[in-house]
Amino acid sequence: MSTENTMAPRKITTHVLQEMKLKKEKISMLTAYDFSMASILDNAGIDVILVGDSASNVMSGYTTTLPITLDMMIYHASAVMRAVKRALVVVDMPFGTYQGNSREAIQSAIRIMKEAGANAVKMEGGKEIMESVERILSAGIPVMGHLGLTPQSIHKFGTYVVRATQEEEAEKLLEDAHALADAGCFAIVLEKIPAKLAARVANEINIPVIGIGAGAEVDGQVLVLHDMLGISQKFSPRFLRRYHNLQEEITGSVKAYINDVKSMDFPNEREQY
Ligand code: KIV
Repeated sequence: MSTENTMAPRKITTHVLQEMKLKKEKISMLTAYDFSMASILDNAGIDVILVGDSASNVMSGYTTTLPITLDMMIYHASAVMRAVKRALVVVDMPFGTYQGNSREAIQSAIRIMKEAGANAVKMEGGKEIMESVERILSAGIPVMGHLGLTPQSIHKFGTYVVRATQEEEAEKLLEDAHALADAGCFAIVLEKIPAKLAARVANEINIPVIGIGAGAEVDGQVLVLHDMLGISQKFSPRFLRRYHNLQEEITGSVKAYINDVKSMDFPNEREQY
């Protein structure tokens, strides 16, 4: 008899995330944009992989998330989907593909689901984008909301400082969170807002709330992979915990390789035919 474990890993669905909230089991989420990294994350047991439009920054070198296109997002998402067996894969709808009108929004979301094979989409904003959110949900596409610091609106905000510290903005955020939950979104990301406000949202709405710079009293956490691994070092907000200094490690390896090539240490006799 084979001793090989043939049990497939339990696929994470939006329903599993809902159960995790009810059981108070925290949800882990990280970004990935390519096959190799997505494969490592999935095998490590991450619950949710976000193909974030932060790819615009960390993969393409733009200073904001605005330039990334729908075709680029579909390219990244397809590569991630080919790697993932267990995690729920959520894909960011890029700037300009859903804010204009709900007809364009549904077409963009359908392309992400059909061409990349994604499990869900994420959209930034509250009541302003509700028509698009509802139309996408009505097509059976799961939607994750995103409130607080929404990087696609950086030119409106002017800076990346903490959002919703004033009562008026905090009230609007609460209303938007309720509206997204009532519309049928399966989860919401809250970015860079006071921990107390995030805790209140997580308590008041019955869908999972995933925080990034939103404190511990939410249902899960998300970080940008390149930031937490220390590949990109420019970005150091207080909420970022760095688990590695991969930039230093990779630089060391590349320097050692250069040295080995120049000194003719590489390849040696065992490394040739
Ligand atoms: O694009 C992204 O990586 C995100 C996270 C910061 C939540 O939206």
